[in-house]
Amino acid sequence: MPAIVLVGPMGVGKSTVGRLLAEYLGVGYRDTDDDIVAAQGRTIAEIFVDEGEPAFRALEKTAVRTALAEHDGVVALGGGAVLDEETRALLAGHRVVYLSMEVEEAVKRTGLNVARPLLAVNPRKQWRELMEARRHLYEQVAVAVVATDGRTPEEVTQSVLDAL
Ligand code: S3P
Repeated sequence: MPAIVLVGPMGVGKSTVGRLLAEYLGVGYRDTDDDIVAAQGRTIAEIFVDEGEPAFRALEKTAVRTALAEHDGVVALGGGAVLDEETRALLAGHRVVYLSMEVEEAVKRTGLNVARPLLAVNPRKQWRELMEARRHLYEQVAVAVVATDGRTPEEVTQSVLDAL
């Protein structure tokens, strides 16, 4: 069975919307970041510091593969999962929705959150650079795009349901 897969940048609300969607549809919910933390017994930030981003992406690929193989509910991916070509290929055939937001919304939601290692130094600049590298990849894997700026998780959830 195809899963509903949420992609999009960090802080866009994939976990919150994913839980609401799963609850509404009466299906299970999984978050590949949570799966990685549970399997590794370390935080994402610790994995980045200890082993670097490429090692994290390899763990993430395994987590995405496992989540999609074991589960047909709602799956939220980490914001950078789409960077890996093999991870993107795993998404084929699933109902992938890109939750998007503009830079000011991103700074409002994530700017002070140093637990997110990729935005810790200069959030606005780092955000723009991340999105330049990633926007086309989110668009490439998604069957629908839902803008989240200024909207509540419930409104976004409704738009995802409308889009599928
Ligand atoms: C990352 C996003 C994070 C987490 C890690 C890397 C990224 O997930 O996977 O910190 O590269 O954008 P969220 O999008 O759930 O915050």
